[in-house]
Amino acid sequence: MTDSRIKLDYRNVMAAAVGDANGLTDSALRSIASKATQEIERIWAEHAAGDQKWIDLPDNKALVAEIEAFAAENRDKYDDFILIGIGGSSLGAISAIQALAHPYRNLLAKSERVGPRLFVLDNPDPEKVAATLATVNLDKTLVNVLSKSGQTAETMANFLVVKEVLEQAVGKERARQQIVATTDPESGLLRKLADQEGYRTFPVPPGVDGRQTVLSAVGMLPAALCGVDIGGLLDGAAAMRERCKATDMFDNAAALFAAIAYLSDTEKGKTILVMMPYADALFGIADWFRQLWAESLGKRLGIDGKEVFAGQTPIKALGAIDQHSQIQLYTEGPNDKLLCLTGVERYRADVKIDGTPAGIPDLDYLDGAELGTLLDRERMATAWALTEAKRPNLMLTIPTIDAAIVGEFYFMYEFQTVVAGGLYGVNPFGQPGVEAGKNATYALMGREGYEALRETLSKAPAGTDYTA
Ligand code: PA5
Repeated sequence: MTDSRIKLDYRNVMAAAVGDANGLTDSALRSIASKATQEIERIWAEHAAGDQKWIDLPDNKALVAEIEAFAAENRDKYDDFILIGIGGSSLGAISAIQALAHPYRNLLAKSERVGPRLFVLDNPDPEKVAATLATVNLDKTLVNVLSKSGQTAETMANFLVVKEVLEQAVGKERARQQIVATTDPESGLLRKLADQEGYRTFPVPPGVDGRQTVLSAVGMLPAALCGVDIGGLLDGAAAMRERCKATDMFDNAAALFAAIAYLSDTEKGKTILVMMPYADALFGIADWFRQLWAESLGKRLGIDGKEVFAGQTPIKALGAIDQHSQIQLYTEGPNDKLLCLTGVERYRADVKIDGTPAGIPDLDYLDGAELGTLLDRERMATAWALTEAKRPNLMLTIPTIDAAIVGEFYFMYEFQTVVAGGLYGVNPFGQPGVEAGKNATYALMGREGYEALRETLSKAPAGTDYTA
């Protein structure tokens, strides 16, 4: 099995580095360690009892084989691939493909590209949907519609639009063969429609929240179609899973990150967590993490039923770009953030700066340098500047970007989130706040069964008009 390779360096979150007001002491960390151990043990005990089903996803080798076979059969058959899904039903696949496929894969000639061009329809934005349908070659377009619940308005609306246009273009029978649905194996409207129409389907694993499904068919089918090594993803996740079995939090990077984030938020006022990788390829993982951390921990009620309004706001940033956009605020603005800078020891391309012009000696320092070295020095410099300004920052380091590392990130962040849920005393599963908005949308759009909510929403607020 692959070994876990993610390194966590937390020296810059300690009081010795950023002062008592902002940093954690050894004794604070030691005191939370026993609670973290309890949470680690609880998660594994629940898993042994048949819960925490997301933990098993890296073992589904049969699914990998099925997806690989499907991808091998369809990669070259199609010019274009439309992924329709939102939130947990799109962010995982997007992040894996961004991390592991060619950054300009849609622009490459078919002979140079692995798999069809990728188009994601997550938002029901009419302009983007219309442009997508005008761009793809419908005759050779594969559509994957993904929804765990099978009824999310954005996804179903985008799908119905695409289905109709596809049927008009290629006929109902061929359209049916060009559509694959990823949804609950038994229930939901998409399941019903897929069964009715005879679509090929892949399962969303029951008992796993949408935001934890990246290592199921939800993330892996689109990724495999775009050439990602999905077996490698699962191997990396399994390696991190081994590491997450350590009950001492200091040997368990996921639990340690959870404890640092929790203490920084609740004791040092770091209510914001900025995830800032120094690699364009990792930006999608920061975006995927944003949903995971926000929806899992942002809860009104604690597990005891009392109001707690828990959660730490996750923000994505990209090094070095956001040094020229956000870092001013992060270094000198409100000291309310914990930052996590991710560095890559060896980028997948070596690009050397040659030919600095004569007569401009101030550019000589770049002569002969690698761009990857510059990017990594930017990260080190930013960590130093943040620390000087008493801003706590963590560093994650990886040797390079490959499928196993990406799988490690997924498992680590998922484990970290569940441990953090325990520390905050909230249930990290479920998303009642998301469901409230979904139900209000159904009511406003006139869906049957939502009449009472529609009635409530239609009542104009009494009193002063505050519109301008
Ligand atoms: O984590 C979750 O479960 C949610 O954020 C969902 O992923 C998102 O709302 C999309 O839902 P569905 O897959 O049911 O269409």
